[in-house]
Amino acid sequence: MKEKKLRSADWFGRKGKDGFIYRAWMKNQGIPDYEFDNKPVIGICNTWSELTPCNAHFRELAERVKRGILQAGGFPVEFPVMSLGETLIKPTAMLYRNLASMEVEESIRANPLDGVVLLCGCDKTTPSLVMGACSVNIPTIVVSGGPMLTGRYRGLSIGTSDVWRYHDDLRGNRIKEEELITIEGAMCRSQGHCAVMGTASSMACMIESLGLSLPGNAAIPAADSRRKVLAQLSGVRIVEMVREDMRLSDVLTRKAFENAIKVNAAIGGSTNFVIHLLAIAGRIGVPLSLDDFDPLCANIPLVANLQPSGKYFMEDLFYAGGLPVIQKALDGILHPDCITVNGRTVKENYSDAQCYNNEVISSVDKPFNNVPGLAVLRGNLCEQGAVIKPSAASAHLMQHTGRAIVFEDIEDYKARIDDPSLEVDETNILVLKNVGPRGYPGMPEVGNMGLPKKMLQKGILDMVRISDGRMSGTGFGTVVLHVSPEAAIGGNFAVIQTGDVITLDVPNRSLTVALTDSELKKRKENFKPPAPVTSRGYVSLYLKHVQQAHLGADMDFLVGGSGDEVTRDSH
Ligand code: FES
Repeated sequence: MKEKKLRSADWFGRKGKDGFIYRAWMKNQGIPDYEFDNKPVIGICNTWSELTPCNAHFRELAERVKRGILQAGGFPVEFPVMSLGETLIKPTAMLYRNLASMEVEESIRANPLDGVVLLCGCDKTTPSLVMGACSVNIPTIVVSGGPMLTGRYRGLSIGTSDVWRYHDDLRGNRIKEEELITIEGAMCRSQGHCAVMGTASSMACMIESLGLSLPGNAAIPAADSRRKVLAQLSGVRIVEMVREDMRLSDVLTRKAFENAIKVNAAIGGSTNFVIHLLAIAGRIGVPLSLDDFDPLCANIPLVANLQPSGKYFMEDLFYAGGLPVIQKALDGILHPDCITVNGRTVKENYSDAQCYNNEVISSVDKPFNNVPGLAVLRGNLCEQGAVIKPSAASAHLMQHTGRAIVFEDIEDYKARIDDPSLEVDETNILVLKNVGPRGYPGMPEVGNMGLPKKMLQKGILDMVRISDGRMSGTGFGTVVLHVSPEAAIGGNFAVIQTGDVITLDVPNRSLTVALTDSELKKRKENFKPPAPVTSRGYVSLYLKHVQQAHLGADMDFLVGGSGDEVTRDSH
């Protein structure tokens, strides 16, 4: 065990005027002298907000973390940071992921913290907090908020993936608006984040497979009392981590990232995982590129039968044994010796796991589905890559050539998609431009754009769709996402026109348009980037600095870290 002076001692251990000021104002909260006596000060970084419904139970969770910190001899201090609620924030929570990460980074660095507990839940609250913490690199543990209980409606289990189905039913005149309102109340029936393997659950699994949480963190439902136990134990553990000086960089090795990629493939995790993992790797300084994903996912079948790729819900995953069972199913494939925040290796954490439901968690030998959970595409339509989730797509569209119907932006799409005069059939490929990091801005989750009403009325439930945007992790369909470079910066994708012939070939990992290089070059001579939506504020800064999807869409000046040192005092 390394012996090290506490970082917080540089505040609370001071004598004279400085120590007086650092301690005196804290004492207005009724804190006795002994709390400042060389105890590890643990920040609880809380994304509680009533505007982030998935995280609305976090005050209670924070209290449990505090109990653990106190029990272990630490000094807990809770602080709020920007909370990103996926369902309410316009134009998209992703626009603010990097802003929140900046706030987290500076809040940790600037304050007398020896360690930090990150309370993460709704999609972007996980990567933003981890990205920010990585740029400081003090001992850190994550406590996820947990998924909601499974929704129940008329005897059916329902979750967020059904939103898209019910919406198609409404547009296809199969259900009425009044029924949709009844369903609203039946789907979100407890605290917690989306109950399927959407982005929030994928992020929670990413955290556990990276080794940043205690085992079992990903799947315990928010409403289950064991979530509170995990929070308390995490409070105990972070104090020990400070004493051991176990930092994020000790856990987040290249092998840990490889493990997370493999687990994400086995669970059919969100495509958003790719962007967030790349951004986190950039912050902690681990080399990782889009090209790493496909080889690491190759030969990893779907072992988790969870929506949107399968049938079940996060609650079922918990009852089946949780993520450690999936990791155990990947024994021999995962790096076993990666250290995790509890001080044990990945393999030590999963060795005793038992599967209690083989329908929910199968094995590599007898997988639930042989189709991969992620594929990275290359070709002249996506010079820097694009992604697709084959496990949530239609098998008959995995190799498909069709005439493009191009929508220049989201307004163009909304204006024409249900126009009876739109010439469309199920062989066409729908292309949506200018929904990328800069184009929208913020890269919203509109990639799984709804099909034309006349297709739905004909009973067509899937078509190939391509965009430079993202898709909700709860979404599904034959949807190519994250085309890079995005249309707004003038790559080949920017000059695609209606009538062009596009070929999607997932087995061969390619996405191409039947245009010669000289034709593409000629079209690009006339390319004009869209005017910036604003010239002031955060969005203006974002537009100038955001990187493309294949680099994780972080801002260029945020990549890497500045460490935990602050050399100048405040008074
Ligand atoms: Fe918060 Fe789905 S909306 S996790």
